[in-house]
Amino acid sequence: MHRTDVDADLSSNLASGSANRKTANPVETWKLGEQLVNRIGFGAKRLGGSGPIAHRTPDTPTAVPDARPDSERVTTLLRRAVELGVNHLDTAAFYPSYGRPGEQHGFHSLDWANDAIRRALTPYADDLFIATKVGPTEHGLARPDQLRQLVEDNLRQLGLETLDLVYLRQHGLTSVAEHFGVLAELRQAGLIRHLGLSNIRPGHLPQAQEIAPVIAVQNRYGVGFGRINDGLLAACGEQGIAFVPFFAVTATGREEGGVADTDPVVAISRDHGATPAQIRIAWTLAKGPHVLAIPGTSNPGHLAENLAAGSITLSPGQLATLDAIPSD
Ligand SMILES: NC(=O)c1ccc[n+]([C@@H]2O[C@H](COP(=O)([O-])OP(=O)(O)OC[C@H]3O[C@@H](n4cnc5c(N)ncnc54)[C@H](OP(=O)(O)O)[C@@H]3O)[C@@H](O)[C@H]2O)c1
Repeated sequence: MHRTDVDADLSSNLASGSANRKTANPVETWKLGEQLVNRIGFGAKRLGGSGPIAHRTPDTPTAVPDARPDSERVTTLLRRAVELGVNHLDTAAFYPSYGRPGEQHGFHSLDWANDAIRRALTPYADDLFIATKVGPTEHGLARPDQLRQLVEDNLRQLGLETLDLVYLRQHGLTSVAEHFGVLAELRQAGLIRHLGLSNIRPGHLPQAQEIAPVIAVQNRYGVGFGRINDGLLAACGEQGIAFVPFFAVTATGREEGGVADTDPVVAISRDHGATPAQIRIAWTLAKGPHVLAIPGTSNPGHLAENLAAGSITLSPGQLATLDAIPSD
């Protein structure tokens, strides 16, 4: 990973963290580009927590006077994630971000997750893979000519010279070609190492692949949720592309967060002496070796719990029960 020396002085605790990292086992890992990552990573969207912040709107801008959580807590959480073996971070310049109540596709961003990652984790460990995404803005999907600036914002905020993976997070495009073409040019120019697609329909994948290789697809998917993406998940597996589901834990909770309250999940979690969140993550991992979990949390206990879900093996009967839950 190429990086600048921004905030190198904030990194002193990392060395001891990497010494504790658990040893990777091939079943637990996937090669993202040229890098081996543990299949349970970390999503940065919930660093600020879920809940009241989600209800801050332009009409009530002071509903949460200072929504920025205390940075020491976030630093500790991010460093703990790396200590526990996370080497795949999923972020965006617009995280934390939340939907506005009543607006299904609303977007409201507090814009600090990338800074928090840079402050907590630089100098970055050689095996840390940071995926980010561009597209959403407060004013809707960015135009193609705005993408370069968004990529440069991510580079600056993360303190990097090259981004490991940039997803085009599309919304409402018939063809992703024009937007993806810009990102492919930025890849050629060395600002980006690998490209991905997010929130896509199956037809978008070949459109992008005509332009440049796609190493990861990130769509909504979970137990009883987003199963419309079953075919896309399978297509990715056949082509050696990572499928990285979002909302795999919260599922129908979407922006509101929390763990979706689904009876069979709760029953199976009792059988395993596990939590429903862990069962949802175990199911995700059972969907194929190319499926990478990126649970988001603001809670260190939940972080440890989520990473431990990798040791849960669901029986064929349990998988069938979970597969049969109707999807939204
Ligand atoms: N490409 C896209 O359009 C897109 C959209 C959304 C998200 N994402 C990415 O995908 C990642 C995952 O999505 P997400 O974070 O929105 O949702 P998620 O991981 O499915 O669920 C997060 C929610 O579940 C709770 N949670 C997590 N682990 C828990 C546990 N062990 N026990 C109890 N509650 C638990 C969290 O609350 P606590 O903080 O209390 O743990 C939070 O409310 C994001 O962080 C982001 O990187 C991408």
